[in-house]
Amino acid sequence: MKYLLAPSLLSADFSKIGEEISIIEKAGADYIHLDIMDGHFVPNITFGPPVIKKIKRRSNLVFDVHLMIENPEKYIDSFIDAGADIISVHAESTKHLHRVIQQIKSRKVKACVALNPATPLSVLDNIWMDLDMILIMTVNPGFGGQSYIPQMNEKIKTLREFLDSKNCNIDIQVDGGIKEDNIQKVREMGANVFVAGSAIFGDKTEEKTKTFLKLLDR
Ligand code: DX5
Ligand code: ZN
Repeated sequence: MKYLLAPSLLSADFSKIGEEISIIEKAGADYIHLDIMDGHFVPNITFGPPVIKKIKRRSNLVFDVHLMIENPEKYIDSFIDAGADIISVHAESTKHLHRVIQQIKSRKVKACVALNPATPLSVLDNIWMDLDMILIMTVNPGFGGQSYIPQMNEKIKTLREFLDSKNCNIDIQVDGGIKEDNIQKVREMGANVFVAGSAIFGDKTEEKTKTFLKLLDR
């Protein structure tokens, strides 16, 4: 199993965004996790495709775009044109999840479904086989710096056991409250792609990125 680190730009200093990205890139991060919020699906607003397009020019990281927006189908193409390599769509955000996933895949971009903490794994029953990654939200989406919800351990474990039983090694991403002191436990549960925002960005971003990679035996 490959363990990957995806620092979330949400906690970076946006007044020097280029520098922030090169620090995590040089330190060895795998993905850059981009949190897109529309003020409707979640009570917060961030940024959109034009910002992604600009930063894409400065980085060779994998652009991991987490859409926390209503009607994601309307914006998939713009995010792909801007440089998304992976797109996560919330199951709760669209009436036509299967269609949106096909829309992403038809553009040869990796497709992921994200689940809020209260959303059961069963919503994936008819769709998991089409996915490159499943994102288990370990906080309620909308803000950085919240605490990991412990009940998510069991959800991650159940999902990994299910995927193993199908001989399928789809990535399980976890997002929210991932810290130095819980990342290994969450890995034991079966997650393999780790988003971390507030625990990485700050005055020791390079050091923190390296610490997280070490905790993943990288
Ligand atoms: C929350 C976002 C996360 C957020 C994580 O809605 O999806 O990606 O940046 O932040 P931390 O790691 O601080 O919990
Ligand atoms: Zn996120």
